[in-house]
Amino acid sequence: MILPFELDRSQTAPIYRQLYQRFRESIADGRLRPGDRVPAVRALAAELNLARGTVEAAYQLLIGEGYLTARGAAGTIVTPQLTPVGAPTQRAPVAPTTYQATHAGTSPLALQMGLPALDAFPRKLWTRLAGRQLRQAGVEGLVYPDARGHAPLRAAIASYLGISRGISCHPEQIFVCAGYRACLDLISHTLMGPGATCWLEEPGYFMARNALLEAGAQLVPVPVDDQGLDVAQGIARAPEAGFAVVTPTHQSPLGVSLSLPRRLALLDWANRQGSWIIEDDYDSEYRYQGKPLPALKSLDQQGRVLYTGTFSKVLFPGLRLAYLVVPAEQTPAFARQADRLHNHCPHLQQATVAAFLNEGHFARHLNKMRGLYARRRQWLVEALHQALGEHLQIDPQAGGMHVVAGLGDDVQIAQRARGEGIAVEPLSQWYLGDGIRQGLVMGFTNVLSAEQAASVALRLGRVIG
Ligand SMILES: Cc1ncc(COP(=O)(O)O)c(C=O)c1O
Repeated sequence: MILPFELDRSQTAPIYRQLYQRFRESIADGRLRPGDRVPAVRALAAELNLARGTVEAAYQLLIGEGYLTARGAAGTIVTPQLTPVGAPTQRAPVAPTTYQATHAGTSPLALQMGLPALDAFPRKLWTRLAGRQLRQAGVEGLVYPDARGHAPLRAAIASYLGISRGISCHPEQIFVCAGYRACLDLISHTLMGPGATCWLEEPGYFMARNALLEAGAQLVPVPVDDQGLDVAQGIARAPEAGFAVVTPTHQSPLGVSLSLPRRLALLDWANRQGSWIIEDDYDSEYRYQGKPLPALKSLDQQGRVLYTGTFSKVLFPGLRLAYLVVPAEQTPAFARQADRLHNHCPHLQQATVAAFLNEGHFARHLNKMRGLYARRRQWLVEALHQALGEHLQIDPQAGGMHVVAGLGDDVQIAQRARGEGIAVEPLSQWYLGDGIRQGLVMGFTNVLSAEQAASVALRLGRVIG
């Protein structure tokens, strides 16, 4: 209902007159537009708890003055030829939004990182599956969903993780959350006391940094080298930290993998210390050279790893679906917090993802994307070398969805590039402390052709100057 008002029975103006006035205001300020249908008399009277005669009197006045047109059985509409007249309502102007949103919900820019190939998502198939879920869902599709996640989706994730990531877990250990950030919130509410000390990869993912700071954690940046997180440095800097957040498969953003000795050292530290490792396995499915690496969680004998995965990279981020796997002994505590946070994800989305996994579409989609991303990555790397010279240093990365090129003045370049519609990210901004490296982080997943790669690389070359 478009009329956001309360009728004021204490006013001297009769109710039908107030109603008439509110319709006029709504028409004048454009909330009701020419051709819009207005509610039937009976429906509006019931909604506002008024006598039908009162609503009828207001409508008659509006029809008499030409604001509304009655069309018999076809209902009453705002007169199509009407140009709004009368004084527009004085409203406080809405202040323009001045902050820069992380995600503005707009079409992606060239080289924007973090997105899967949006042109290659099987929309038709998705629509069919979602339609079927809608038709087949019984009352459980309509009630409040289980705060831990839709049971068939939790089962499908458990079986996917067992086969593809070497993680053996029961569906009860899985919690479906609205994105990675919500996984972190669930962890911090369940396990983090005030002022908990937490290792964070340096450089590392800003979303994790912000979520943990907001949770009141003390962050200790731990450097990353060509073997991933430097565990010895972590132990030297904060031996008694309660948490370590890591991206072992493809470090975010450098793309290196955590070596086996480091994995073992990290687990050994967590076991001895009774600390928690938060494994962020955000894009592990994409690897273009060598064998896929099992998750760190697959080596976790003593239940110290809290594993997170997301559907943002393998399906699409608009879904807002991620998941957290917790050690079996922790499931009651996490279930209680999940219920408190009320972090429900829509049933339809969860049921559609479950069908996508269970019917084999997921594995096919991933396979297709691996081939596509390998090509797109190569197009971009070749084009960058062509436009910026063979000396441009691009980090060798075996997988992931972005490349990192070493370049100075990265903040300035990224700012100028944005003005040209290119969304490269400055590497230096992923650091919390010192040891800052400069470079550009670039997504290649939406580079549609070698020609497009060449053209964007030329434009970037002009920006760099
Ligand atoms: C390092 C890292 N972790 C996790 C995620 C997933 O976040 P979400 O599930 O909120 O989309 C991303 C997405 O960009 C990421 O870059």
